[in-house]
Amino acid sequence: MSSVVIRGVGKNYRLDSVTVPALIDINLEIHPDRFTVISGQSGSGKTTLLNLIGCIDRPDTGTIEVAGQRVADLSDDALSDFRARHIGFIFQNFNLLPVLTAYENIEYPLVLSRTPPAERRQRVTELLAAVGLADRARNRPGQLSGGQRQRVAIARALAGRPALILADEPTANLDSHTGAAIIDLMRRMQREQHVCFVFSSHDQKVLEEADDAVHIQDGRIVSLERQARAQGTPA
Ligand SMILES: Nc1ncnc2c1ncn2[C@@H]1O[C@H](COP(=O)(O)OP(=O)(O)OP(=O)(O)O)[C@@H](O)[C@H]1O
Ligand SMILES: [Mg+2]
Repeated sequence: MSSVVIRGVGKNYRLDSVTVPALIDINLEIHPDRFTVISGQSGSGKTTLLNLIGCIDRPDTGTIEVAGQRVADLSDDALSDFRARHIGFIFQNFNLLPVLTAYENIEYPLVLSRTPPAERRQRVTELLAAVGLADRARNRPGQLSGGQRQRVAIARALAGRPALILADEPTANLDSHTGAAIIDLMRRMQREQHVCFVFSSHDQKVLEEADDAVHIQDGRIVSLERQARAQGTPA
């Protein structure tokens, strides 16, 4: 089963009396265990598409199915709940809470979902180790490097064991070495924890790693390349 099925999706932004068509007739299936990268020039619609897939925003036309659920059928409350249970979002600017430590930032979604304390402790400890930050648990974001902050954001996105993780230009602010380490980390998480990752990126290195590369231009998909990489094969 596909993680995401998008059919005939369109999205317009209205600003004063002007309508900007940000996405036009998008049709796309995103498969679990495939690393999907959405590329395109600035303003082409990448963030808009990720926000629709991530249930942060709703399309004007068409349908989106995430993990078998038609998200248009959900009320706003049910949609937030669905997002919290199934989707992890990694924002370009990380969106970490500055007053919380690395540990507390990763724990935060688990507090919101009322996960019992002992289970939270175990999960956060395991995630800190997985992203190589066991020794930085007590640092706040201001006391971490950019790559370390990015790793905290990844661990936080993974905390609730979502089926789908969306990342908006996750390597844009990182040097190439740190960017490559982050990509390796996510590929490992994809293999070991069977999480479906979807990125937007301009980064050639990220594009080379993609199993499925979706290119958008002026709000339309202009090409879709699926690599014949065997599923589950180490990158
Ligand atoms: N809230 C908004 N109101 C009005 N127009 C918007 C809004 N958000 C985005 N747009 C417009 O929609 C189009 C697509 O924007 P989007 O942010 O999806 O592009 P992008 O591909 O993510 O670009 P970038 O690479 O610069 O992040 C752009 O023309 C943008 O100006
Ligand atoms: Mg963007």
